[in-house]
Amino acid sequence: MSDSNNSLTVRDNRTGKEYDIPINDGTIKAADLGQIRTSDDEPGLATYDPGFVNTASCKSAVTFIDGDKGILEYRGYPIEQLAEKSSFLEVAYLLVHGALPTKEQYDAWVHEITYHTFVHENVKGFMQGFRYDAHPMGMLMASVGALSTFYPESKNISDPENRHIQIVRMIAKMPTLGAWAFRHAQGKPYVYPDNELSYTENFLSMLFKMSELRFEADPRLVKALDVLFILHADHEQNCSTNAVRSVGSSQVDPYSAVAAGVGALFGPLHGGANEAVLRMLRRIGSMENIPAFIEGVKNGNERLMGFGHRVYKNFDPRATIIKKACDDVFEVTGVNPLLAIAKELEKIALEDEYFIKRKLYPNVDFYSGLIYEAFQFPPEMFTVLFAIGRTPGWLAQWLELTQDTEQKIARPKQIYTGDRTLQFVPASERWK
Ligand code: CMC
Repeated sequence: MSDSNNSLTVRDNRTGKEYDIPINDGTIKAADLGQIRTSDDEPGLATYDPGFVNTASCKSAVTFIDGDKGILEYRGYPIEQLAEKSSFLEVAYLLVHGALPTKEQYDAWVHEITYHTFVHENVKGFMQGFRYDAHPMGMLMASVGALSTFYPESKNISDPENRHIQIVRMIAKMPTLGAWAFRHAQGKPYVYPDNELSYTENFLSMLFKMSELRFEADPRLVKALDVLFILHADHEQNCSTNAVRSVGSSQVDPYSAVAAGVGALFGPLHGGANEAVLRMLRRIGSMENIPAFIEGVKNGNERLMGFGHRVYKNFDPRATIIKKACDDVFEVTGVNPLLAIAKELEKIALEDEYFIKRKLYPNVDFYSGLIYEAFQFPPEMFTVLFAIGRTPGWLAQWLELTQDTEQKIARPKQIYTGDRTLQFVPASERWK
């Protein structure tokens, strides 16, 4: 029996029985519904929730989101402060360790990550084996998964030291793999890491260096990309994080779990929206076409890509920061002519009753594609950049999972809709 003030009383009209189900943290345990049954032979009551729209799959202390108020916090720190005052590697430390580092801890962390940026030469060998037009996300997914064969000890996930070194390796090697996937598509030689450079500078060097001795990126571009990585670093139980947790719950090594996350992120409903924004802006083409386009959206003929969010119903705090980063990047690269169309679309939409009523605001993807394009990334690379930024988040969530004594292997129920107890007739008789 539970505290009646903090419980849910359910009456099963099939049997007339009442049940008190405890409420904790605004949830009931789905397993508590299992006691509600019409007879001992029948299965207990379950919930049906495709897409987990109203089901908490875990307890987590990594990221807090209040979608109505537009709040995003990593380990309690507001995203705005982290984007302005921190660095991606410090944020990665925060996400993975749960607290900000001391100077010694930070230096040791940066040293460890930097030290592990190189990959085994055989990784290069198999990456070179992909077709010339291989999608970089496919290459990234395959190569992250393949790392488990280079570090077979990574399957010892109950050993804290072992977990730590795999986390370091993955954060360190992700830019190397992502950059090589990019170079592969261009038919350019792969560039080895330069460990004299910062994490983000080194990534830019592996992407764009040619014959110069050292690649020197504009510090404003380095800062903007670092901020983009911070903004993408975690977003609680999104599709790819859920994939990492689900696969990780089988107690497989973290490379295999993160490869599943990369796969989930590859899908257009998750990581691919910024590419769709660019396509949309190009299609609109000029300012005079905007009113007709907005009418088309309001008539339900199309969507204003980069607007709206399942969780954020006030504003997406990441979008506000990205807009500022846009200005910094365009100061270096020159303004993307699509920016004017984007700004005008945003202005009109924010004043229009259709969008106001439905709480549709620019999301993280509305401006990020424009920045990526200014960096001269082809659209296929946008999701790779997202994956590099999201890696510390996936790993922080995976680490939490491995230490959560309430977690079990992810194994949802189903509602079976197929046939039963058919009589099998062998092919030799069926095909007579
Ligand atoms: N343009 C026009 N109308 C829209 C849009 C949009 N972008 N988004 C939602 N609506 C309308 C929708 O038609 C519906 O109207 P009505 O009530 O008249 O039927 C209402 O707003 C509610 O929409 P919904 O589809 O029920 O909302 P949802 O929470 O299921 O969808 C969403 C969220 C992000 C999938 C959706 O807003 C969308 O498709 N946006 C465009 C794609 C996009 O930018 N995706 C990036 C998301 S941010 C990346 C990330 O964080 O992972």
